[in-house]
Formats: sequence, structure tokens, C-alpha cells
Amino acid sequence: MENKQITIIGGSGGMGQVFSKYFKNHGFQVTIFARDLNRLRKVAKELEVNFAKTLEEGLNNADIVMISVPISSTIGVIKKVIPYLKNNALICDITSLKSEIYEVYKQELNKYPINCLSLHPMFGPGITNMQNYMMLSIRIGGTKDYNILVDDLLELFRSDGLIIIETTPEIHDTKIALTLGLPHMFNILFLNLLKRSNNSLNELTRFTGTTFLLQKVFAESIIQREMEMFGEIQMENPKFLNVINDLVSLMNDYKHVIENKDKEKFNELFIDALNYSKYDVHFKRSYEYFYEFMKILKKKED
Ligand SMILES: NC(=O)c1ccc[n+]([C@@H]2O[C@H](COP(=O)([O-])OP(=O)(O)OC[C@H]3O[C@@H](n4cnc5c(N)ncnc54)[C@H](OP(=O)(O)O)[C@@H]3O)[C@@H](O)[C@H]2O)c1
Repeated sequence: MENKQITIIGGSGGMGQVFSKYFKNHGFQVTIFARDLNRLRKVAKELEVNFAKTLEEGLNNADIVMISVPISSTIGVIKKVIPYLKNNALICDITSLKSEIYEVYKQELNKYPINCLSLHPMFGPGITNMQNYMMLSIRIGGTKDYNILVDDLLELFRSDGLIIIETTPEIHDTKIALTLGLPHMFNILFLNLLKRSNNSLNELTRFTGTTFLLQKVFAESIIQREMEMFGEIQMENPKFLNVINDLVSLMNDYKHVIENKDKEKFNELFIDALNYSKYDVHFKRSYEYFYEFMKILKKKED
């Protein structure tokens, strides 16, 4: 991989910077591109990588092009980039939704002799070490060298301890609705629900034991992240509406249980949840983890 040229479109953004540093540290010649030239220049200087003033300039010699732009811009950027790629180049996006993008790559592959891969890193810009984090990967297809090029890239990530899960667009979007959309939504709703009570969080914290404190800090960490992306992950994924429909139905059942003081049904829901979670890898030590987190929170408050 040494001396390969990689261009990162969106290289001045959060994830673009993570991958720029990553590839630079692995001996790649890194070029970044984005629209805001001042920011691009500043980031390129900080990261000690090249920057391209125009899209074409950034693509001419690239062996690999990574697309790291917001979800809603990704398809447009992919379509713009592909005609400029050299033969046999590898293009990969890292965006958080896959079904629509998969179809676009398939169409473009009929027109150009290139290679397409869709990746989804399951971490954010705050990451410092990729060890034991996950990256989802969807092989799309390309030239006769496709598997060699893709295997080389995935092997590089694996050599740094990143766990690569190969999947399909359909499975990806269905599961992401549950593993990203759902927890994001719960935390947005949690804070909005508390706001409606007209209690400040500081006031509520005075009445807090452990569970609320941990939940509150988790929600606060979510709400300070990328609003636009979180909205797109929920609104642009048709699978997420299924999750909301299930939730609404479950909430109606739950309301009924509480209104009617239906202990039997409450116990049934509780035990169903317990039985579902007890085969999970983190289940046995979850209470221990909980108190490890609490130790950190209590220390900070001293
Ligand atoms: N953040 C996360 O936790 C995370 C995790 C996994 C995957 N992802 C995925 O990673 C991608 C990037 O996310 P991010 O959080 O890094 O976003 P970000 O911080 O907002 O960065 C977006 C980058 O794209 C550039 N850009 C936007 N529109 C463009 C266009 N039309 N042409 C060229 N450049 C454009 C922006 O610069 P200019 O505005 O100057 O052009 C910026 O450099 C998204 O697809 C997201 O789904 C994010």
C-alpha cells in the first residue's frame, strides 16, 4: 500500500480527518478535497497532507478515492467523482446508509472500469485507536482485480485491530435502524420528555441515584453530536419507520398495562426483556460495568 495515492472527498470534515491521518500514517500519499477552500487549506496544513483546489485535480492520479461527505450529498458526489477516476481505481464511501447508494454504484459500474466498495465505520471522529471497533463493509464489484484491491484495503484495517463485518445493503440498513436510529431517538426523546416537565437537569440531578445519572450523561453525549447526520440516519432510512411503528404499538400496550395496573402483563414484558438479553455477551457483567461508569461520574463530581 506504500506510496498509493488516496484522495478523500470531505477530507476537512470529522471522519475525513480520521481517515486522512490513518492513511498518512500508513504511508499513503493523501490528498483532501472539500468546498470551503480556507478550511481545507487549514486542515491540510495541520494534518500535513496535500489538498486539491478542484475536484478534477484531486482525482486524476488517485488509486483510491474515499467519499466522506454528509449522507444526503453522498450520491451526488459519487456521480460527480466517478467519471474522473482512472481505470481500475477503487472508490469507497463511508456513509451511514447503503441501499440507495448500492444501486447507484451498480449503475455506474456498467459505464466505467472501476471498483466500488461501501464501508461504514462504527465509530465517530473522536476515535483515537481502531482496536476492536467495527467497520461494516459491502462489496459492490468492479474489474478483474476487484477482490485483490478490496482484500488489501480490508486487510490493512484488520491489521490495526478493526473488526470488518461484511454484509449486504438490505441487512445493513435494517440493523442500522436498530443500532443507531433507535438509541439516538430514545435519547432525543428522553431529554425532550424531561424538558416538558419544566425541571432543569441540574434540579433533577439532586434527586438522582445511579440509573438516571448514567442515562442523563449518555443522552447529553448524544445530543452534542452531529444533528444533521442523526436526522438523516433516521429520516433517509425507510427501515427506521418500521422501528417507530413497533415502538408506538409497544408504547400503547405499555400504557394500557400501567393504567390497568396489570402486574401479570408487566411481569411478562419484564421477563421477555430479561430472557432476550441474557444471551448477550455483555449481560453477565453489565451490573459491574454500570458501577464502573458510576465510579467515573462520582469522581468527577467530587
Ligand atoms: N460522524 C460520525 O460519527 C460518522 C460515523 C460513521 C460514518 N459517518 C459518515 O461519514 C460521512 C461524513 O460525516 P462527518 O461527520 O465527517 O461529516 P462532516 O464533519 O460534516 O464533514 C463533511 C465533509 O464533507 C465536505 N462536503 C460536504 N458537502 C460536500 C460536497 N458536495 N462536495 C465536496 N465536499 C463536501 C465538507 O466540507 P465543505 O462543506 O467545505 O465542502 C466536510 O469536509 C457521512 O456520510 C456520515 O454518514 C459519520
